Formats: sequence, C-alpha cells, structure tokens
Amino acid sequence: MVNVIFCGFGDGMDKRVVAKQGDLLLRVALNNGVIIPTECKDGMCGSCAVRIEEIGTIPSNNTTSDIDPDGWDKNKYTTYMEEKELNTLVEMGAISKLEAESAQQYTQQTAVRLACQCIIKGPLLVKPFE
Ligand code: FES
Repeated sequence: MVNVIFCGFGDGMDKRVVAKQGDLLLRVALNNGVIIPTECKDGMCGSCAVRIEEIGTIPSNNTTSDIDPDGWDKNKYTTYMEEKELNTLVEMGAISKLEAESAQQYTQQTAVRLACQCIIKGPLLVKPFE
C-alpha cells in the first residue's frame, strides 16, 4: 500500500489516499472522489494528463551517487510506459521526444502521465496538467 496525494484538482479534492501498488491512477482518483477529465480512457486523447512526482524513495544501502551522469535515477521506481502513452504525450507537447526515449531506455516514468495508463508503483504526488 502506498500514499497518493492529489493536489489542485478543485474544492474538496485535495486529499491523501492509500492505494494498492499496481492499481490504475485514474481508478484510484475516481474511487476517492477526485475528478480527472477523461475521454477515451485508452491513452489516445491526452485529456487525463496529470503531473506526477514520486515522493518516496527506494531503500538503498548504496552510498555513492544516486543519479548516473546519463540520467538514470536509482531512487525512482522502475515503470514501464507504453509507447502509445509516450506518443500521445509527445504529440500534445507535454514531454519532449528525448524525455520519451529516456523513459523507455531507463524504464522510468515521465513527470507527466496519462492517468488512464498510469500504474501506481510507489508513493505519488499528483497535480493537474495545465
Ligand atoms: S482518457 Fe484519453 S488518454 Fe486518458
């Protein structure tokens, strides 16, 4: 179980909820009364885009640098993002092509996700994408 904090979605929707790892972010939001706009629910339209921040860190005994020079952050959860989601995010200008390639290469998620495609891996702070 992990904490998911929703912030900035409107009156009464700022809240911290407990979610299961592996659950879909959009489902967690809706089940807890947080309204995220949707249209396709299939990663194609971009209407459910949200900003996310990983707020937990993976426990590590390693005392050396946590971020490799080429950008892989050991404290981030491994998250596979489907090409469909990455393409939609690039097309809508939410992320760059380079960020999409990096997300694929290091299996780490981007700072903007589609709530209908975002599987929760660790604690998250979720804000509207504006
Ligand atoms: S609802 Fe269309 S991309 Fe999520």
